[in-house]
Amino acid sequence: MFSMETLRPPIPPVHRRWVNPYTGWVHNHPDRLLANPTPAELQQRREQAGEGPALHVELGSGSGNFLTQLAGLHPQDHLVGFELRYKRLVQAARKLERDGRQRAWLLREPAEAFPRYFAPQTVDHVYVLFPDPWVKVSQWRNRMVNSTLLHDIGCALKPGGLFHLKTDHSGYFLHVLGLLPGVSWGRIHGFSNHLHRSALPLGRVRSEFEAMFASRGKPVFYLALQKTGTQQADPD
Ligand SMILES: C[S@@+](CC[C@H](N)C(=O)[O-])C[C@H]1O[C@@H](n2cnc3c(N)ncnc32)[C@H](O)[C@@H]1O
Repeated sequence: MFSMETLRPPIPPVHRRWVNPYTGWVHNHPDRLLANPTPAELQQRREQAGEGPALHVELGSGSGNFLTQLAGLHPQDHLVGFELRYKRLVQAARKLERDGRQRAWLLREPAEAFPRYFAPQTVDHVYVLFPDPWVKVSQWRNRMVNSTLLHDIGCALKPGGLFHLKTDHSGYFLHVLGLLPGVSWGRIHGFSNHLHRSALPLGRVRSEFEAMFASRGKPVFYLALQKTGTQQADPD
């Protein structure tokens, strides 16, 4: 026998939407972490901090282990990290605050936007460390290091400035080496297919992913390109 009770549609289960707390915490570190950055805001912060002998830019700075160590080695330099993920940004900001670093800033901004933040020929070092490998052929177009980014890096670097790439992924490394014939602004300055067995100094400053791969004995590939000449890179 039917009752009104049996005809009533089932009550849908209550789905509590998970909210990432880091999206809120990203605003808790206004001195170190610019959640909605603009070029003018970064410029203002850098001017307030006073001139630095060198400018370092890390694209995809993750949880900030590399930037934090670099800031310790070069406390007077300016350091800027670009990162998209909230949790990693907050972790990085906490490390910089813990160490009292006043000349390092994190921007929640895609790496591809970095040329908006720096005048041509003003950057001393650009680092891309362990970029997401995007292993499937159909995903290669997502790789951070592509000919456009390399061109932009060439424009941003001072003559003599360096672009550093580290990766554990041999396919990614070959992908970047394959782009080099299109790079007219620089020359190879450093190269290793096992950075941690080399004497190259950048092997001693390790990012979070780098430390993880090193602990597993995985080789790390390293490439440094140096900007040559005194002319401004072709903006086209
Ligand atoms: C594999 S992790 C490496 C993190 C760090 N560099 C390290 O070595 O420990 C790659 C990082 O790049 C960030 N990333 C990926 N695409 C990005 C983009 N377009 N702009 C800024 N960051 C990006 C990711 O969120 C992630 O934190």
